[in-house]
Amino acid sequence: MWRPMRALAMSAVVLVAVACSDQSPSALHPGGPGARRVEGLWWLLFWISLIVCVMITAGVLLVVRRRRRAAPVDNRDPTRFVLIAGAAVPFVVLAVVFGISLGDNDFISKPVGGTHPGDALTIEVIGHQWWWEVRYPHGSPAVLANEIHIPVDTDVQLKLTTADVLHSFWVPQLMPKTDLIAGRTNMMWMRADRPGNYRGQCAEYCGMQHGHMAFMVIAQPKSEFDSWLQWASRPAPTPADPALLHGLSIFGQAGCASCHSIRGTDAAGTVGPDLTTIGDRWSLGAGTVPNDDEHLRAWVSNPQQFKPGIAMPPQAISPAELPDLIAYLRSLRPTPQEAR
Ligand code: CUA
Repeated sequence: MWRPMRALAMSAVVLVAVACSDQSPSALHPGGPGARRVEGLWWLLFWISLIVCVMITAGVLLVVRRRRRAAPVDNRDPTRFVLIAGAAVPFVVLAVVFGISLGDNDFISKPVGGTHPGDALTIEVIGHQWWWEVRYPHGSPAVLANEIHIPVDTDVQLKLTTADVLHSFWVPQLMPKTDLIAGRTNMMWMRADRPGNYRGQCAEYCGMQHGHMAFMVIAQPKSEFDSWLQWASRPAPTPADPALLHGLSIFGQAGCASCHSIRGTDAAGTVGPDLTTIGDRWSLGAGTVPNDDEHLRAWVSNPQQFKPGIAMPPQAISPAELPDLIAYLRSLRPTPQEAR
């Protein structure tokens, strides 16, 4: 009896600790007005549920106590009690919650700052098994994978669709979930009011690597975002360093270019993520491993060891050539003078 209760209490403590830590992408740590409304609704439902739980538990304990004392049977007619506590009160509570959630739904489906859809910064997000393609269709050729840069205090319009199966776009600290449905584009507004990194996750089971389909929303001050977008929009420069140039030629010879693009080079594959800004990304494999020299080398050699089932096969690149290829890919990030 005590063991399960202790396990339950421990789980509750862990859950609360995780939800309250600043590191977790919890809906209880909102970074924008939409998520703040959702947080308000969450707490309302929490307190209502808590009160109902306490009242029912108290009622059950009362009955048990009466039974133990062998108190005389209460013969009063229960109809009135059932009608009030079992029908009228739940009806009023549910109607109020329904009304509030309709108001919240209306709030989050519109741009908070009243931005006209035609004037808004629009970002296209396309779900793939198992990564996110991110495009800035108006005026920027930038194509990202698994991360979305946005300016703070700005209504951002997201257009969501999928290239294959059903996925669901969820950034708990910014917005509730929206599904990505084949043959259809779903629209949502997103706004962050403090700079920071907000982790997102695919929230609809989409196959073997659904759990490794994370992304990061990076909310930056407007001027920082503008210089980042300017950097991300440029074609990859042709390297002056012979080792990096050699790395670029290996990229073409090894067949990487048949699946991946690097703007500014001959690589124009469309199967896998665009790699024009690969050195700048927060992770490899949609949040699977950190983006550093060591992991990139291991990933290129055999990504299946980290993320079995993905489309990219192991690459037989000789150990003599691999370092130049890795150095070239890692060089595709802003220099200290650019952005930041
Ligand atoms: Cu994509 Cu789950």
